Amino acid sequence: MRVPLVQTGMGWVAGPRLVAATCEAGGLGILASATMTLDQLAQAIAEVRSRTAAPFGVNLRTDVADVHERIALMIETGARVASFAQAPNPALVARCKEAGLFVMPTVGARRHAEKVADWGVDAVIAQGAEGGGHTGSIPTTLLLPQVVDAVGDRVLVLGAGGFFSGRGLVAALAYGAAGVAMGTRFLLSAESRVPDAVKALYLGTPVTGTVVTTKVDGAPQRVVRTDLVDHLESQSWLRSLPRAVRSAYQFRKETGASLSSLLREGRAMKEGNELTWSQVVMAANAPVMTKAALVEGRTDVGVLPTGQVVGVLESLPPVADIIDAVMSEANEVLRGWSA
Ligand SMILES: Cc1cc2nc3c(=O)[nH]c(=O)nc-3n(C[C@H](O)[C@H](O)[C@H](O)COP(=O)(O)O)c2cc1C
Repeated sequence: MRVPLVQTGMGWVAGPRLVAATCEAGGLGILASATMTLDQLAQAIAEVRSRTAAPFGVNLRTDVADVHERIALMIETGARVASFAQAPNPALVARCKEAGLFVMPTVGARRHAEKVADWGVDAVIAQGAEGGGHTGSIPTTLLLPQVVDAVGDRVLVLGAGGFFSGRGLVAALAYGAAGVAMGTRFLLSAESRVPDAVKALYLGTPVTGTVVTTKVDGAPQRVVRTDLVDHLESQSWLRSLPRAVRSAYQFRKETGASLSSLLREGRAMKEGNELTWSQVVMAANAPVMTKAALVEGRTDVGVLPTGQVVGVLESLPPVADIIDAVMSEANEVLRGWSA
């Protein structure tokens, strides 16, 4: 990497074009594999490889039945960085480390950072509450220094949640981070695969236009506040469950998983993440509802994960311009200080 900027693995968004563009511009691009089958991941990795020789990463879910095959594929194809949406487990970290992968889970609380640091990860992305998608409740301004103090002597710490500018990068460096990871900023770029009409909806969202809901899949997730989200918020759990069961079935059908692997995954997820069974059932709802909006452009029936930073973004620049602008502003601030 020539610049300390990471483009995070966003489901249905971070495809080969976005990843390769980030890597070519000197940052680290991460492919989103949570919404891909193993075959689709193999194709996506091959496409990244055909577009760039730079190192890149893959974002993985730890609770999928074929996580070991995905890691084997990464090792075979030379994808260097394993990013994890939820905390992995010690055995998975050990497997990745043995194979020489750089392991970088995302965490939303200091105790999670401490736990994964004890397992020997190389870096953590500390994502504050303002971040997009699944997110915790501690703002970046408090989480980042907490995580740096707790594990910064052992692992690299990157800040995430609300970053979009050079000033933000310098702030993160001042907190002791090694760089920043950005999701929403890269979602709203020329190279992200989201349909233009959906990008326009994001651009029209004000900084107050997002909400954290647990009604999509049971875990807190920051999304654009739409009529659908208001409707979901007003529904009881009992009424949400049948929809979640249908989504679970549809998602597993699309990704080719069998009922037994679905149940195995559900059990691993329940145990690994201390979830209730109703939360497990809800979990497959997120990819389906996100796909409806981000791939099919059906924003009336789908959800739009986003960081609060969406409210300050006004255009869809090419990735290289985003990276250049962040780096020149950061350098300008630093030059101003040293003067
Ligand atoms: C549309 C969207 C999809 C996301 N999907 C994933 C995912 O599949 N895996 C993951 O680890 N994080 C996911 N995230 C979280 C981002 O990777 C990133 O950590 C977050 O967006 C950072 O906050 P920011 O949006 O303020 O930059 C997603 C975020 C968005 C906006």
